[in-house]
Amino acid sequence: MLTGGGALAVGLQLATAPEASALDNGLNRTPQMGFNNWNSTHCGDRFNEDMIKGIADLFVSKGLKAAGYRYVNLDDCWALPERNAAGDLVPDPVRFPHGIKALADYVHGKGLKFGIYSSAGSKTCDVKGFPGGLGHERQDADLWASWGVDYLKYDNCNSQGLDAKARYQAMGDALKATGRPILYSICEWGSTGPWNWAGPVGNSWRTTGDISDTWQSMISIAQANQGTAAYAKPGAFNDPDMLEVGNGGMTATEYRTHFSLWAEMAAPLMIGTDLRTAEPETFEILTNADVIAVDQDPLGRQGSVVSSQNGLVVMSKPLADGSRAVTLTNEGSYDAVITTTAQTLGIGGATSYTVKDLWSKQTGTSTGTVSATVPGHGTAMFRVTPGSPVSPPTGTTWLSDLPFASATNFWGPVERDTTNGDHGTGDGTTLSIRGTTYAKGLGAHAPSDIAFHLGGTCRHLVTDVGVDDDAYGNGSVVFQVYKDGTKVADSGPLTGKDPAKHLTADLTGATTVRLVATDAGDGTSWDHADWAARALCRPAHQDAPGS
Ligand code: GLA
Repeated sequence: MLTGGGALAVGLQLATAPEASALDNGLNRTPQMGFNNWNSTHCGDRFNEDMIKGIADLFVSKGLKAAGYRYVNLDDCWALPERNAAGDLVPDPVRFPHGIKALADYVHGKGLKFGIYSSAGSKTCDVKGFPGGLGHERQDADLWASWGVDYLKYDNCNSQGLDAKARYQAMGDALKATGRPILYSICEWGSTGPWNWAGPVGNSWRTTGDISDTWQSMISIAQANQGTAAYAKPGAFNDPDMLEVGNGGMTATEYRTHFSLWAEMAAPLMIGTDLRTAEPETFEILTNADVIAVDQDPLGRQGSVVSSQNGLVVMSKPLADGSRAVTLTNEGSYDAVITTTAQTLGIGGATSYTVKDLWSKQTGTSTGTVSATVPGHGTAMFRVTPGSPVSPPTGTTWLSDLPFASATNFWGPVERDTTNGDHGTGDGTTLSIRGTTYAKGLGAHAPSDIAFHLGGTCRHLVTDVGVDDDAYGNGSVVFQVYKDGTKVADSGPLTGKDPAKHLTADLTGATTVRLVATDAGDGTSWDHADWAARALCRPAHQDAPGS
């Protein structure tokens, strides 16, 4: 599969990192994984309590839970067409004779989570018109929380012409007010450009209309979803709709393309087939651990198209360990050789690379070219790792002395040991927070996200953070530290008038640490974010954190 050919691919410009921050409900640091009945049953009779319990059983017995799938979710048609006298939603007693709470309890008993569906309108989308949440947000959210619901998919039908953001925000507020962590999946089909507003509102948002079980539907949805790559981040992901893998309308090659592209795009992996009747091949695709690891990578970045010519499409996704996940997709009908380079993938400069084929599991080396013969409608998928990986640090290490696994920044690059000067490399000045200067540190401009590969060797992070004096008292930033995708420190909002804040974080066992600066929700002006950050790494006797 790997060759030494020299073809060059065309690099496309990555979009500028957008400003909208992610919903801070602690959920969905990596894209949701689970099951939803819609693609296999719509509102047919097979959608009932037995099905949902059967799926929960199979999640455990077939290794899907072990592979990372967590949510077992109901779609439309679970309720009766009318609310009861108290205005509450009522589960359909034919489909769910023991009610929804008993079903949620059953799913929870398997160590899984349970999800439900409604619409941000007067009625849901099915022609029978089940009651929607518009005007009933608090009442419905409270009811779901009392049943133990962990996930809401909120659709967009019968919206009465009201503003989408306001309707979705109202339910987001209601979910928050329940005090129960409920993953919030926005489903307005991309119609109002939700990537521009939904980050702080929900945990994911549909970017397109409904998928169907055909190659044409799947690939056109993938193409549409590629355009919004820059907006995905931990807590807030683009959703190109649920999986059709196993439903019978595509070939196994096409289903592998579907699964590969969804993982490459950090999309929710919501199984949409009735696993009670699924073929072994369906389970093999859905439990490919290497592909799932790409989707679930803690950096939470969506892969983007780096070359596209004549239906031969190359995507590259930055991963937390400094590797790239790569898809080579042949959208045409006949075999084709697809070739790209480490340079095009964004990791040029090393003398050799380890290249793992995530479907065949074959591993090889390359001096920088990645190439495969790909059948029509097929995708080859690789994990490409620079062959001379960065050695994990030892001792007390200033993070400004380590290479970045990845770094995004609002203006100009992240600077080492100087402030962010807004433009090119090296245009900053001495780091300074309320008159205290720092010889070592990172000069960022929020929103910013800087990742370091630690390889499990470090024990503590110690840092002073604040808005630099070169913002003249302006600006406001929240500084957050993530250990392998979990937030372990948060400064709260700091303005250009606040003194430096001292943050520490436990890094024991961390593969990656990420330093995230958000704009504190009030725009990016003057958000010069300074990190005087150092890590205390092995050997262990050097672990006194100091001041
Ligand atoms: C819309 C959604 C689908 C599904 C149906 C249910 O079409 O986009 O995913 O939930 O409604 O009626």
